Amino acid sequence: CGIVAYIGPRDAAPILLEGLQRLEYRGYDSAGVAVAAKGGLKVRKSKGRVGELAALVPARFTGKAGIGHTRWATHGEPSDANSHPHLDGAERIAVVHNGIIENADELRAKLIADGCVFTSETDTEVLAHLIAGLATEGVELEDAVRAALKRVVGTYGIAVLDAEQPDRIVVARNGSPIVLGIGEKEMFAASDVSALVRYTRQVVHLDDGELATVRADGFNTFTQEDARATAKQPSTVDWEESSYDTGGHAHFLLKEIHEQPTSVERTLSGRVDERFSTAHLGGLNMDAREARAFTRVKILGCGSAYYSGELGAQLIEELARIPAHAEPASEFRYRNPVIEADTLYIAVSQSGETYDTLAAVQEIKRKGGRVLGVVNTVGSAIARECDGGMYLHAGPEISVASTKAFTSTSIAFALIALHLGRVRDLSPADGRRICAGLKAIPDQIREILAQEKEIAELAGKYADHPGMMFVGRVRGWPVAREGAQKLKEVSYVHAEAYPASELKHGPLALIGPDLPTVAVVPDDELLEKNLTTLGEIRARRGPVLMVGHTRPDPKLAEDAILVPRNEPELDPILLGIPLQLFAYYAAVALERDVDKPRNLAKSVTVE
Ligand code: G6P
Repeated sequence: CGIVAYIGPRDAAPILLEGLQRLEYRGYDSAGVAVAAKGGLKVRKSKGRVGELAALVPARFTGKAGIGHTRWATHGEPSDANSHPHLDGAERIAVVHNGIIENADELRAKLIADGCVFTSETDTEVLAHLIAGLATEGVELEDAVRAALKRVVGTYGIAVLDAEQPDRIVVARNGSPIVLGIGEKEMFAASDVSALVRYTRQVVHLDDGELATVRADGFNTFTQEDARATAKQPSTVDWEESSYDTGGHAHFLLKEIHEQPTSVERTLSGRVDERFSTAHLGGLNMDAREARAFTRVKILGCGSAYYSGELGAQLIEELARIPAHAEPASEFRYRNPVIEADTLYIAVSQSGETYDTLAAVQEIKRKGGRVLGVVNTVGSAIARECDGGMYLHAGPEISVASTKAFTSTSIAFALIALHLGRVRDLSPADGRRICAGLKAIPDQIREILAQEKEIAELAGKYADHPGMMFVGRVRGWPVAREGAQKLKEVSYVHAEAYPASELKHGPLALIGPDLPTVAVVPDDELLEKNLTTLGEIRARRGPVLMVGHTRPDPKLAEDAILVPRNEPELDPILLGIPLQLFAYYAAVALERDVDKPRNLAKSVTVE
């Protein structure tokens, strides 16, 4: 979900709608705005996209302070009534909220007993009633919000508007991001800097447990617990506004795929140390002695971040010879994991806000573990929670399906693996080989992107099938998993990823003319084994599209996409690129909503 707020000399509504457009990628089954006008609050909200909401907002919708929201339903189905902002019965207080209030049912029952009338099924509405109850007693808005939040169990990022105190907006955070944007005699707040960059580069990230009063001429931050003032220094966002346009491409997804040569260059920039054949990673905050002491690496992330972690674990095992595993952060945090002092934990997140990943990091830290972050968004919650790490510098990723952040994360893992390897057992010669390989990747990605037309044709041909298998062995396996993930996310074609080695232990039963297989087959020591697997598939008349380095015997694969060869350890990074284009063009062929697939959100800040 997304939140925006504005207070200043201008009319709020157009700014809120513009901000909501920018945030739509985070979640988007309904949207709404409220402004404080003379005579009370004006509110418009509806199920559907921001564009539909904008059509409902009349030209004269004046008000200099306002809040807005795009929603991705958690409590209550998408509907006009369940859209935010939510108001109290007297329509004095409006609240927009990201997150989940766990004790909402209990609070709702108490409020109903006190005479409140509810108009939605959402957990958020209890906040509006709670705050209004206190505000009508004459309490300052920030104190009313603070008192209401004390009764709430759960996660939230909120913005609150009061018709009676239109000179301020109060925002608060616990588990769901809130960023303040500082303008010239005007102030903004949002759940994501993307909604702010058009207006200002000066931002302040709220911490969990913090609350802020935002006025046209400034802001104050406090602790929610005891209203103690907190000192916050604004930071400058270096992302360009143009990152938030499709830049002539049909979709953000395609634009972000094409950005990869430069986004990878940024991830590598200043980090490849050719003189000592290693990687310079000052942000890890770890000296060589510490880097040698770890006996295990555990990588945590969700969705594509988890799959990039699998690719990363393999790189670390290969280059640094440290046992390494990736696990979904969402599973890890619920299974009471054993936290070991000699394990290096690495959290991966594009947004830096995924709640499951953040919760995993917090659990590790609570138990004394050391966590590094591999994060794209500077200043995000996960980045701040970690003991050190690496920023990807991939630039903002807008399309829900991750591409450039996935690739940059894989590059980051190669750098970490190189660094850990070189303080352990990796030879200077191997270090040199990896440095040279990394430097070659941007141009090799350009070569792959040049095959766009052919890949689009293949995608069109295969997209007609009801489902697809994706297989790979060892280095090819995380590539197959992410390839399947991309396809299902954006095209809704069922895609199952399986280790090629496991095919004969079950899924071979599915193979036939209706179920094509996309096989990731690098030219490594497992080539022969992989070709045998292709033979097994072809024997069952399963169509095969191979992604690899050498054109296969047409008897084994009727179609192939070839990528340039790098070092064997780094090849998986390149093998993934054509599968992004494949998924994109399959989705286009099927006329899907490429950048905003149904039921998904870019950043899942709820449990
Ligand atoms: C959501 C998105 C995925 C993404 C995952 C992790 O589920 O739909 O595309 O990979 O979150 O996001 P993160 O920002 O933590 O990398």
